[in-house]
Amino acid sequence: MSHANIHKDFPVLFTEQEIAHRTAEIGRQIDHDYQGKSVVLVGVLKGAAIFLADLSRRITIDCTFDFVAVSSYGKGQKTSGAVKMIKDLDQPIEGKNIIIVEDILDTGLTLCFLRSLFEQHKPCSMRIAALLDKPSRRLEKIEADYVGFKIPNHFVVGYGMDYAERFRNVPDIRLMPPGYPELH
Ligand code: PRP
Repeated sequence: MSHANIHKDFPVLFTEQEIAHRTAEIGRQIDHDYQGKSVVLVGVLKGAAIFLADLSRRITIDCTFDFVAVSSYGKGQKTSGAVKMIKDLDQPIEGKNIIIVEDILDTGLTLCFLRSLFEQHKPCSMRIAALLDKPSRRLEKIEADYVGFKIPNHFVVGYGMDYAERFRNVPDIRLMPPGYPELH
């Protein structure tokens, strides 16, 4: 069954223009903070792919990409011990300035796990850029250095974020109505 266009009824939380505007502001901030330096943007698959693609094009300093993938056991079911690396970095980060790029910082378990893992590789510096931040859900003490928008505890889809792998390609960010049926 096709699920195309069913998101049209979901309320818009952030429009494409709002996302683009905020992303450009973060890009300018990163340019300012890393003047004369190089950075490695480390995207956390899959959700961050779209934010990384857009943010990177708002950055003019020297930058390269890398990607990691970590296991996910579903919202609210993750425990610190349960986060596992599925796809590791391709390039060494020792001595590099890295920015971990995330679509959303929620409980913080994913980023805490990645931060401690990356620290062992001795990067020169490590920061976090998260388009969305849900502080009310936090289980770990972690904050992003660059935040697009702080949001309340709503389930959101679009701009990389999924429900059952759908809606990642929706260009804006929308609120998933509560009690939405399961998709297959
Ligand atoms: C989402 C998001 C972050 C993580 C944040 O990924 O992209 O990686 O959850 O949640 P946390 O702060 O509670 O750890 P998800 O596991 O849904 O995988 P996806 O990126 O492939 O959609």
